[in-house]
Amino acid sequence: MKKIFSGIKPSGDLTLGNYIGAITNFIKLQHEYECYFCVVDLHAITVPQIKLELKKRIKDIAAFYIACGIDPNKSTIFIQSEVHAHTELSWILECNTYIGELNRMTQYKDKANKVGTDGLSSGFYTYPVLMASDILLYDSDLVPVGEDQKQHVELTRDIATRFNNKHGDTFTIPEHLIPKVGARIMDLQEPTKKMSKSENDKGCILLLDEANIIRKKIMSAKTDSEMKIKYDVLNKPGISNLLSIFSIITKKSINSLENEFKNCNYGEFKKALANELINIIHPIQQKYENIRTSRELDEILDEGAKKANYLANKKVRKVKKRLGLLR
Ligand code: TYM
Repeated sequence: MKKIFSGIKPSGDLTLGNYIGAITNFIKLQHEYECYFCVVDLHAITVPQIKLELKKRIKDIAAFYIACGIDPNKSTIFIQSEVHAHTELSWILECNTYIGELNRMTQYKDKANKVGTDGLSSGFYTYPVLMASDILLYDSDLVPVGEDQKQHVELTRDIATRFNNKHGDTFTIPEHLIPKVGARIMDLQEPTKKMSKSENDKGCILLLDEANIIRKKIMSAKTDSEMKIKYDVLNKPGISNLLSIFSIITKKSINSLENEFKNCNYGEFKKALANELINIIHPIQQKYENIRTSRELDEILDEGAKKANYLANKKVRKVKKRLGLLR
């Protein structure tokens, strides 16, 4: 069975972008692949975090994985920092990655342009290598991610190929799996920017938002003055974003939605979208509340860490042997 690895970092509450760009794909793929879904907490500390919030969010994300529909009997769910091999392999791979490669990572470049490098941790700079380790430890064939992570998966492929060529066949070369629709859900207020947990409150729907908040955020989403429900990212980024969200959550094609709403105004369309979103998110929240406080969640995470540790330690031993690091 082919393998899948993916992760979400607990640097903020889960967003609709995380759900559409990543989690909906995890749910689809879990039946066909051996899946590893990780809460990548070590990635979160590349920027400052508040201890108690981080601690809470780590388990929140694990609970949301399950509440959204990942079956813990089928997939392995675990917390990255409970598997030490991730950091060990990361160091080894850092010694196999060029500074030039890291300099080309757009996420790093964007952040460095914004805040300068003096205030950025070196962990933020090297984090694509930690991500490569996450993926390569489990011989992952596919990595389901949103568009923003594509470059990191490509770097992972380069690092793995280079290592294999130099030291012998060690890593499976992974491929990214990016959804055709919904790979980049945009901010509702600034639809030319990615929806992100660190950005504008009003522009970002959280999976924890109450129904009235979701409705408010959708109803006040920025659109244009044409009043025509048509997918056109360049000229109508706002309405195109809402169409993508609608399409993913209802599994209706964009074309059929354009048809369905051709005689409606933006207000009617947004109202329908808000209702659909609430219908999806509300049951997830209820399931989340149950699982978040259950003892079962800890058992699932313990079990997940055990399985992940076994596989990851085996891989690290192989890598160390290849390098002459084992007695
Ligand atoms: P993170 O935590 O920022 O996001 C988690 C996943 O959600 C996707 N995503 C989006 N998709 C569509 N539209 C959006 N607005 C949006 N916002 C986020 C991301 O593309 C991602 O798939 N470095 C990664 C976490 C990571 C990882 C890994 C992923 C660490 N190790 C190994 C895959 C495999 C990150 O920061 O994702």
